[in-house]
Amino acid sequence: MINPLVYIVMGSDSDWNVMKHAVAILENFNITHGVKIISAHRTPDLLFKFAEEARGLDIQCIIAGAGGAAHLPGMIAAKTTVPVLGVPVNSKHLQGMDSLLSIVQMPKGVPVASFAIGDAGAANAGLFAVSLLAINNSELGERLISFRQEQAEKILAMKLPK
Ligand code: RP5
Repeated sequence: MINPLVYIVMGSDSDWNVMKHAVAILENFNITHGVKIISAHRTPDLLFKFAEEARGLDIQCIIAGAGGAAHLPGMIAAKTTVPVLGVPVNSKHLQGMDSLLSIVQMPKGVPVASFAIGDAGAANAGLFAVSLLAINNSELGERLISFRQEQAEKILAMKLPK
């Protein structure tokens, strides 16, 4: 079995609709990955175990998505030096502003890379993980360039109604 290079974790199955966009990017680039539900406040022991084992498993980065008072990315980062990419999931009452501020406002000393709220943030976290892996994988870097070119071509082919 090949070890996952990237792990995607989320606080609840209700985060899946957002976090599936990160998974789709990793699948698109054929990156071996794992997906787990870990709740910072409901399964703190599981969080500690996962984060403590991450570096030993050769995981290159962890994409962590959560909503509300979103402790998950910061707490994982507190327990591992593997880079953590935090995705603020849209919340019911504050539309993800709570998640965003919880993730982006990490106090000095333990960083979490923070992305946009929702689908775009999850997809961009996936793309950022690909960029990190491409540092030591030129073939992956070429595929990332092709991906950007495809996006540019879509824009150039766009037509507005007359
Ligand atoms: C957070 O609480 C999760 O990340 C989720 O975004 C939010 C709501 O969780 P559920 O009540 O849907 O399980 O921990």
